[in-house]
Amino acid sequence: MKGIVLAGGTGSRLWPVTNVISKQLLPIYDKPMIYYPLATLMLAGIREILIITTPQDQSAFKALLGNGHQFGITLTYEIQPKPEGLAQAFIIGEEYLAGDSCLMILGDNIFHGVGLGHQLEETLPGIGAHIFTYTVSDPTQYGVLNLDSEGLPLAIEEKPRNPTSNLAVTGLYFFDNRVVEVAKQVKPSTRGELEITSVIDWYLQRKELTLTQITRGAAWLDTGNPNSMHDASTYVRVVEERTGLKIACLEEIAYGQGWISKEELIEYSLRFKHNDYGKYISKLLI
Ligand code: DAU
Repeated sequence: MKGIVLAGGTGSRLWPVTNVISKQLLPIYDKPMIYYPLATLMLAGIREILIITTPQDQSAFKALLGNGHQFGITLTYEIQPKPEGLAQAFIIGEEYLAGDSCLMILGDNIFHGVGLGHQLEETLPGIGAHIFTYTVSDPTQYGVLNLDSEGLPLAIEEKPRNPTSNLAVTGLYFFDNRVVEVAKQVKPSTRGELEITSVIDWYLQRKELTLTQITRGAAWLDTGNPNSMHDASTYVRVVEERTGLKIACLEEIAYGQGWISKEELIEYSLRFKHNDYGKYISKLLI
C-alpha cells in the first residue's frame, strides 16, 4: 500500500496568511502542519508516500522534507496545477500508484489518540474502500455519512445543507487499486470539483465501503480556518506539555518503527540541538 498526502489548495480561508505560503507549511504549535498527516501514514506502516502540492509550493515542501530519508521513508512529489478537487489526486497519482492500493490523507487533517496508531494497519481491508468518521456538532462543513439501522453505510453527501446525521467523513481514506479508474469517471460537482464523496459513493453503491467510527477518546482536528488552526495548536501544546511526549515527531516515529538507526537519530538530534525539538529527540536515546 502507498500513501498520498494531498497538500495543495488555495488556503483561501486563511488569507492573507496563506498568500505566499502553503497552508500545510504553517506551524501547528511546534511543527509544520504537514508533519501531522505524515505521522498518521507512518504510524500505519506506510513508507512510500506521494506529496501533491501546488506548482508554486513544491520547492518549499522539498526543502523541508527532502526525499524522506531522515524519516526512513521515500517521498515523491507531484503537482496539482489547480485545486480541482480531492478525487483528482488519484488521477495525478496514477503512475505513482502503479496498481497499488492507497491510504490518502488531507494535508490539513490532524488525527491523534486511541486506535489511530499501529491499529490502523490491522483495520484496513485488502479491497474496497474504508473511511473514518467522527461525530461533530456542525456537519454542514463536511462530507456526511448516513448509516442504516444495522450501522452499515447508506448514503454519503458533500456538505449537506440539512444533514440527517452528524457523522463527518474525515480526511483519511483507504481505496483499493480501482480508485484511479473510479476517479476518472467522476464528473465535476456544481462547485466545479471532483468530489471525494463521489468516489466513496461508487464503493458504497457496490457494498464495498467499510468504516471506522473514531471514538470520542481520539481527536480529529481540521485546520482550515484561523480558529481551527489556533485550536489545533493549543491542543498539541496542552497534550505535549502535560505528557512530555510529542505528537507527530517524525524522527521518533521512524526510530520506533525501526526505520532509522540509533546513529541516525543522534545525527538528527544534533541538527536541532539548541531547541526543544532536538533535546526531545536526544532524550529518546536515554
Ligand atoms: O476535512 C475533511 C473534509 O475535507 C471532508 O469531510 C470533505 O468531504 C472533503 O471534501 C474535504 O472538505 P474541505 O472543505 O475541508 O476541503 P478543502 O477544500 O478545504 O480541502 C481539504 C484539503 O485538501 C486542504 O488541505 C487543501 C487540499 N486540496 C483541496 C482541493 C479541493 C487540494 O490539495 N486540492 C484540491 O483540489
